[in-house]
Amino acid sequence: MTAIADIRRSINPEIERLNALIKESLDSSNKLMNQVISSYLEHKGKQLRPILVMLTAKLFDDVNDSVVTAAAAVEMLHNASLIHDDVVDDSKTRHGNATINAVWDNHIAVLVGDFFVSNALQLAIRTNDLRVIDTIASLGKLLSLGEMDQIYNARFHELDEEAYFTIISHKTASLFVSCVSVGAYCVGVDDDRLKRMQRFAELFGLCFQIRDDIFDYYSDEKIGKPTGNDLREGKITLPLLYALANGDPAKRDAMIELSRKESLSENDITELIEYAKDNGGIKYAKETMQRLRDEAAEILATFPTSETTESLLAMLDYIITREK
Ligand code: IPE
Ligand code: IPE
Ligand code: MG
Ligand code: MG
Repeated sequence: MTAIADIRRSINPEIERLNALIKESLDSSNKLMNQVISSYLEHKGKQLRPILVMLTAKLFDDVNDSVVTAAAAVEMLHNASLIHDDVVDDSKTRHGNATINAVWDNHIAVLVGDFFVSNALQLAIRTNDLRVIDTIASLGKLLSLGEMDQIYNARFHELDEEAYFTIISHKTASLFVSCVSVGAYCVGVDDDRLKRMQRFAELFGLCFQIRDDIFDYYSDEKIGKPTGNDLREGKITLPLLYALANGDPAKRDAMIELSRKESLSENDITELIEYAKDNGGIKYAKETMQRLRDEAAEILATFPTSETTESLLAMLDYIITREK
């Protein structure tokens, strides 16, 4: 049994409430909408974000109804961003299954994604907590800004590590920060403990996206989504970024040039991926995750040790070693 499966089992009743709420809140009078959504909900993701909301609430108090509702809102917005992301990336599979844009078309995927965004806001309102509503409403903006930064950088060849960290902070870590924020708001936590958990979540989110970006350098069915896709879209992530700045100088200029090409062929993608791997890019990305992970673990250690701090630590270790 993996650590994450154990954690999920320890909060199983809450997860079931979450899934029932998500299903019920998405029901509508349109048959096509219901059909697309019900097949979408058959293949759920890892649900790490609602788990993080619940663990944060548990760290300080209990998982009350508002916590479950806020967790559903966060998971909804996350799913909306994935549905739209698969349109933007022209991705045909996720979790090993066909995406909405692949089964139906972009038009339907955009509409379903919009439906999810609005549903997330409605769920946030049900908590009656303005801070939760503000968090969810602001998050939508940050996520699109992150994706837009990435497109801007790809088009204008802004290649540095600082720009990379800004992107992943916006497009990914912001969601994890929102998870701990809403979890804490729903049980009433003081500012000091909230700030510590927010920093933990920021580091957690950065590790999470670095791991996801490493997946893109390998082809493995387990991952359940296409790989090489980031480069296909002109998005340069940490392993290649490192290699282009520190790799074998004999090939570096040619590789930089290649990475800036308007449109990359499959051969170009393979060549860049190999260059990143051969020049310590993956190793560097893994070391970076480890450094961020250690800082996050130190923050956790400032809270009294409990089953919940152990679960949070296990989750952190899971996301840096996970295989899907
Ligand atoms: C995918 O997130 C999007 C990224 C931020 C890389 P997850 O890998 O958590 O997706 P699900 O929730 O399991 O579908
Ligand atoms: C975008 O990142 C996911 C969001 C934060 C919306 P990716 O494009 O790397 O996500 P995957 O790899 O498709 O899951
Ligand atoms: Mg994508
Ligand atoms: Mg990715």
